[in-house]
Formats: sequence, C-alpha cells, structure tokens
Amino acid sequence: MVAQERVICRSADLVEGSRGVRFKVMVYGKEEPAFAIRFHGRVHAYFNRCSHVPVELDCRPGEFFDDSKLYLICSMHGALYAPESGRCLGGRCQGRGLIPVAVEERDDFVLLIPNE
Ligand code: FES
Repeated sequence: MVAQERVICRSADLVEGSRGVRFKVMVYGKEEPAFAIRFHGRVHAYFNRCSHVPVELDCRPGEFFDDSKLYLICSMHGALYAPESGRCLGGRCQGRGLIPVAVEERDDFVLLIPNE
C-alpha cells in the first residue's frame, strides 16, 4: 500500500491525549484519510474511517479523543476505540476496529513507513 517513507509531522506536533494530525495515505492509487495520535508516549496511526459507517471519525478536524482522553471516539455515533490498538471497545463498531497505518518516530519526526 504505502510505497515510500515520508514525514507526517514533527514529534512535537503530537501531544499526549491531544489533537491528532491528519494526513493522507495513497492506497492503490487513491488517497485515503488517516490520522496519528500520541497515547502513553507512543505514536499510533490509523485510517480515518469508522468501522460502523465509512466516515471520518473527527467532525471537528483533529479531535479524536473523547473527554476522558482515554479513548478514540467517532463523532458520528460515539463508537469507542482503543488508542493503542484501534480495537473496538464499545458502541456501533460492534467488534470491528480501526485499520492501523505503520508509522515510526525518529529524530523528532513521525514517519509513514512503507509496507510493500
Ligand atoms: S459512523 Fe462511527 S459510530 Fe457510526
């Protein structure tokens, strides 16, 4: 899917439990929305697509955490996902999680990692 390593953002752009960074991933010639967040010190990234209905999770761009800052939440109907795995934790995701995107933090940057 991802053919080339590239910078998504600076490490400092991702603050624990705060706003995520939105970016695009080229998948079979089509740009797909994705996002990265920081949780328990580590960066995680997922395709920005709810498993209930394929819409982006953040109605307000970059707002992926719920009020507790412990869960990712879909702003449409409130499905909850685990920030560290994307696993569905409740609501209309009904056991289906988010799809992870391979990222790595290196030299103060967050990088999209090729997986082909
Ligand atoms: S679209 Fe995400 S919970 Fe319904």
